[in-house]
Amino acid sequence: MKAAIYPGTFDPPTLGHLNIIQRAASKFDKLVIAIGENPSKVSPSFSLEERVQFLKAITIDIPNIEIVAFKGLLVDFAKSRKIDIIIRAIRTILDFENETLQAQMNRQLGDVETFYLVVDEKCRLISSTLVREIASYGKRLFGFVPPEIEEAVFQRLFSGKNEN
Ligand code: COA
Repeated sequence: MKAAIYPGTFDPPTLGHLNIIQRAASKFDKLVIAIGENPSKVSPSFSLEERVQFLKAITIDIPNIEIVAFKGLLVDFAKSRKIDIIIRAIRTILDFENETLQAQMNRQLGDVETFYLVVDEKCRLISSTLVREIASYGKRLFGFVPPEIEEAVFQRLFSGKNEN
């Protein structure tokens, strides 16, 4: 059975993430969506539990998916699951440079390969950061996050801002 890991912060998951999940899941027997910590980012806006629930809601129709959280290095998680392929999305040349550094390091540390999927043209401008920013100004998120979670993501981000 050929399995791959799609790691990310997913804070929150977007249509861009979902597009990659659908495409990767169709090419592997199993796709493990792994929610990790990106040390170069500030604390996530959504709790781990919320992100797990969002990912479950948007992947309900995809049978060969598992959603898990991991702590520590991605290569250690991959080794613990005996999976040696990581999937990452490339939007721009900047992503390519950043991802290549991580891919080289992951190969050196854990002998895992990174497969890049070039993002769908319609998702090129989407990022979790932009989603958080747009909602904080009261704009709805249709076209940026999957419809199943739009209401929950919007309400959390918009009301969260109003409470402060
Ligand atoms: N379309 C549009 N946008 C996309 C996308 C797609 N298909 N796929 C990802 N993105 C965006 C996300 O929205 C996100 O936007 P943001 O930067 O505004 O938040 C960005 O691209 C990348 O985020 P995401 O894919 O959610 O994850 P990440 O890059 O934050 O995740 C980890 C990084 C968790 C995989 C990485 O930090 C890691 O491996 N951590 C564990 C520690 C480790 O092993 N470190 C050593 C690495 S060498």
